[in-house]
Amino acid sequence: TDFATFITGLPKAELHLHIEGSLEPELMFALAARNDVAIPFKTVDEVRAAYSFSNLQDFLDIYYAGASVLITEADFRDMAIAYFDRAAADGVVHAEIFFDPQTHTDRGIAFDTVMRGLLAGMAEAEAKHGLTSKLILCFLRHLSEEAAFETLAMAEPWLDRITGVGLDSSEVGHPPEKFARVFAAARAKGLKLVAHAGEEGPPAYVLQALDILGIDRLDHGNRSLEDPVLTARLARTGMTLTVCPLSNVKLCNVASIDEHPIDRMLREGLRATINSDDPAYFGGYIGENYRAAAIARGLGKPELATLARNSFLGSFLSDDEVAAHL
Ligand code: HPA
Ligand code: ZN
Repeated sequence: TDFATFITGLPKAELHLHIEGSLEPELMFALAARNDVAIPFKTVDEVRAAYSFSNLQDFLDIYYAGASVLITEADFRDMAIAYFDRAAADGVVHAEIFFDPQTHTDRGIAFDTVMRGLLAGMAEAEAKHGLTSKLILCFLRHLSEEAAFETLAMAEPWLDRITGVGLDSSEVGHPPEKFARVFAAARAKGLKLVAHAGEEGPPAYVLQALDILGIDRLDHGNRSLEDPVLTARLARTGMTLTVCPLSNVKLCNVASIDEHPIDRMLREGLRATINSDDPAYFGGYIGENYRAAAIARGLGKPELATLARNSFLGSFLSDDEVAAHL
């Protein structure tokens, strides 16, 4: 349709994408065979049937199991280029992607293997599609502060190729304040700071992310809407929210796409963006997230253009680079 063509044709940045969450079942099987890794599924259909979640932890258990097929530099490259090919087809011209090094280093995969593979995929995406990208290293919040510090130390030789750090995995019970010191250390190294907050956790976690971690960008942030003072502050300060509509539905953070608050976020003056989070698990890449949200919430072309514009304003590109995209 005309509407779908308009969405695809809108140049956009993707700011909330876990590269391990882009691993499609077909590639998971191929890598399992290539690396002789056992996975608890016999067919691609069986895998897809297992992708039914009632909360974040349900999903995380399957997501970490899926990542076990990633062994070599080529595996990380293949996963990354598959994502970039798909993103480019949806009109993504810039992506700031999360990776979870601890998911790999804890299995004995070298940090350098992960980096070399992802960087190879990123270089290939730029050559092939003109799609630029940046890396954000996420600490797993269910693990310790000490483990996060060890991961930051492993990243040290690569810091010129890592734009920022983030915080993901099980939110409730692992508040941002647990990582206050490691975020301060990352800031001192010149890294940008982002954190998942207010996905399942309360508005108080968003406040901690702002006031204790000093984040530059807020991942999800949905539950901020429960606190009018916080919502007004996020709007006033121009904080970018990386919202993921289909993820919110799949993880039961909203009852259905018809009840998604994306339009309310825009009306409240929030700098909201639309992203795919873990597209291989949640049933759609960024274009499908724009389409589903637009149809369900009656977003028109001006709102869609605002969302795409917000994605560049909220990116970690330089002011000149942002201006070139607007
Ligand atoms: N939330 C928290 N951790 C994650 C997510 C998410 O949506 N995706 C991958 N790790
Ligand atoms: Zn996420």
